[in-house]
Amino acid sequence: MQKPVTEVIRQRFSCRTFLDQPIDDQRQRLLAEFLATNQVGPLGTQARFALVAATQGDHEALRGLGTYGFIKGATGFIIGAAERSPKDLEDYGYLMEHAILFATDLGLGTCWLGGTFSRSRFAEKIEVRRDEIVPAVTAIGTIAQGPQARDWIRERARGTDRLPAEQLFFEQQFGKPLLAVGAGAYAAPLEALRWAPSASNKQPWRIVRTENAFHFYLARTKGYGKGSLLFFLLQFADLQRVDMGIAMCHFELTARELGLAGRWVVQDPNIAKPDDRTEYIVSWFG
Ligand SMILES: Cc1cc2nc3c(=O)[nH]c(=O)nc-3n(C[C@H](O)[C@H](O)[C@H](O)COP(=O)(O)O)c2cc1C
Repeated sequence: MQKPVTEVIRQRFSCRTFLDQPIDDQRQRLLAEFLATNQVGPLGTQARFALVAATQGDHEALRGLGTYGFIKGATGFIIGAAERSPKDLEDYGYLMEHAILFATDLGLGTCWLGGTFSRSRFAEKIEVRRDEIVPAVTAIGTIAQGPQARDWIRERARGTDRLPAEQLFFEQQFGKPLLAVGAGAYAAPLEALRWAPSASNKQPWRIVRTENAFHFYLARTKGYGKGSLLFFLLQFADLQRVDMGIAMCHFELTARELGLAGRWVVQDPNIAKPDDRTEYIVSWFG
C-alpha cells in the first residue's frame, strides 16, 4: 500500500453511492494483481477472489439476497469463495478486508454486502464449487463526492458510530477495561480494530489481554446471526464470524506496520465469559 495502513483504515467507509464510471485499467490491474496473492487466510483457509464488472440485474438481485442499504451505481464487485473449513468465515473476513483496504488505498469506494450468496448469480460469476462458500461480497467503484460523503466525514470525526474502547478491550478478565496506557504499543492496533466495519455496525469483537497475548472473543448480538430464526430461515452466513476476521485484519496489519511481531493461535485461555453468547475465537501471541 502507498499510505500507512492506519491512515487507510481511517479513510475507509461504507460507500453506497458511486459514480457511474468504470474503474480505470491501471487500478483494475493493480487490484487484480493483489487479489491473485490474497489466497490463504491467517487460520489456513484457502480462498480466491475476483474483481467482476456489474451487469444488468445485479443491483435488483442484491435486495433479494438479504442485503440492506441501497447501493447506487457500483460498477463492480469483489467476489470471493472460501473452501469450507472450521475457520472459513473468519479467514474470509480477513482476506476480503485486506482487499478492501488495498482498494481504499487506490482511492476506490467499497461496501461489504452480507447475505445469502452461495447459490446466487454472484456465486455463478466466480463459478463457486460445492466445497466452497460465498458469505458476502463487496461493491466497488468510484466514490461519488456528494454531500453524503461530507456528512460522513463529520460524523466520523465525532466518533459517534463506534463503541468506546472500555466496552471492547479488557485486561486479564471481562469487565476490567484495558486502559490506553496499559495497552502500550498495542494501543494503535486496538484503535484500528475499533474502526473495523461490521455487519449492521454491531461491533461484536471483545478482546482480553493477558501477559503475552490478546484473546479475541465474539459477543453475539441477541436475535442476530447464528441461533436466530430469521438467520436459519434465510440460510444467512454467520456474518459475526466474518466480522471477527475483519477485526483480525485491522489489528494485524497495524501491528505489523509498527514492527510488532506476533502470530495467531487457536488456544482457548479459559477466561470466565460474561454470558453464553460470548465465544472464544482466536489469540494473538505477540
Ligand atoms: C459482514 C458485513 C456485511 C455487511 N452487509 C451490508 C449490507 O448488506 N448492506 C450495507 O449497506 N452495508 C453492509 N455492511 C456495512 C456496515 O453496515 C458498515 O460497515 C457499518 O455500518 C460501519 O460503517 P462504516 O463501514 O462506514 O465504518 C456490512 C458490513 C459487514 C462487515
